[in-house]
Amino acid sequence: MENLPQSRRKFIKTLTLLIVSGGLLVRYLTPRTIGKRRVLASAAAADVPPGGALVFRDERLALLRDDAGFYALSLVCTHLGCTVTVSEDALSCPCHGSRFDRLGKVLRGPADRPLTRFNVEQHGERVEVVA
Ligand code: FES
Repeated sequence: MENLPQSRRKFIKTLTLLIVSGGLLVRYLTPRTIGKRRVLASAAAADVPPGGALVFRDERLALLRDDAGFYALSLVCTHLGCTVTVSEDALSCPCHGSRFDRLGKVLRGPADRPLTRFNVEQHGERVEVVA
């Protein structure tokens, strides 16, 4: 191998280091779930009657249905994270008394943000809650 002058060798070394560290930085800062569809829960459409809800206790979410169709809400209270319970007309948090309407909007605090809404996809007779 030819003898490169010290400054050129140093430049190539620095450039290589920058390229490698830049690639690692981009990989570190890019979320791994981008573009990946993840099914959080799945149910038969017939299992959720109009005006009703199906609760997935382990996943802490509810699949609800109204006249417009299906939608899903997180049951994690936006105040301090307790699990919200679903009743016919509202969702209530047993910890500090927050209440949410069936669309997840805050009716009564201390929670000040609505419940997180998940995407829902219907494939024939199956309904999937996806993230
Ligand atoms: S955790 Fe739900 S109201 Fe406080």
